[in-house]
Amino acid sequence: MDLKSQINLDALPKHIAVIMDGNGRWAKQHGKPRVFGHRNGVKSVREVTEAAAELGVQYVTLYAFSTENWNRPQLEVTALMTLLVETLRKEINTLNKNNIRLKAIGDLKKLPSKTYKALLEGIENTKNNSRMTLVLALNYSAKWDILQATRKLADAVAQQELNSESIDETVFSNALSTQGIPDPELMIRTSGEARISNFLLWQLAYAELYFSPIFWPEFRKANLYEAIIDFQRRERRFGKTSEQLIKS
Ligand code: IPE
Ligand code: IPE
Ligand code: MG
Repeated sequence: MDLKSQINLDALPKHIAVIMDGNGRWAKQHGKPRVFGHRNGVKSVREVTEAAAELGVQYVTLYAFSTENWNRPQLEVTALMTLLVETLRKEINTLNKNNIRLKAIGDLKKLPSKTYKALLEGIENTKNNSRMTLVLALNYSAKWDILQATRKLADAVAQQELNSESIDETVFSNALSTQGIPDPELMIRTSGEARISNFLLWQLAYAELYFSPIFWPEFRKANLYEAIIDFQRRERRFGKTSEQLIKS
């Protein structure tokens, strides 16, 4: 039986988050500069986005650039930002054809103005699409996200628009950059690294984590199917016992 037909479409994760990792190592393996890996990673972005939309997943969040990534060599940062602009411009038609809405999370205003502009254009031009939402995490850091939410809520309390007692999980979630987006049930990281790297710390609190040894530029639809099948075999207990889950 092929992989896709092993997926239970009634039990899909609504939201899949991906740490796209291993571009540099993949390029090195091929005797090429790191940027070659980033360029080839675009095909994987297309594949995963398309496969997820075809299945009926509602949200895919891709970690494209972390706040810590500014510390990379200037040449690589510039190349990444240029690639982003290029890709955003090129892929808008495909997103529209596939009825996919683009969104972004992160400290976006600190992106180079060209990147920021291309991003806003992409978001604006796809805002009425409804099949799936593709969220790009750009200049994203989970600690930044938690801090900006805290600041927003603190301001609201200071302005007496909010009572501190009423800050619960829902209120806090709504102050995060992922406001309105359900928490990811599945988080995939490629390249064999097993860490979160400052990605969606609050939102991943109960996500199933899936680590693939494959470098991002080689990640294909079949690899996403494998991750979803693995996810569907897991028992999500949320603190309860296995017996409790079987009874209910
Ligand atoms: C992921 O691949 C892409 C970004 C972080 C932008 P890397 O560039 O981190 O590749 P490795 O981890 O060095 O192989
Ligand atoms: C995480 O990958 C960030 C993105 C995928 C954009 P990194 O390759 O930057 O993570 P670390 O530094 O190895 O943890
Ligand atoms: Mg990496």
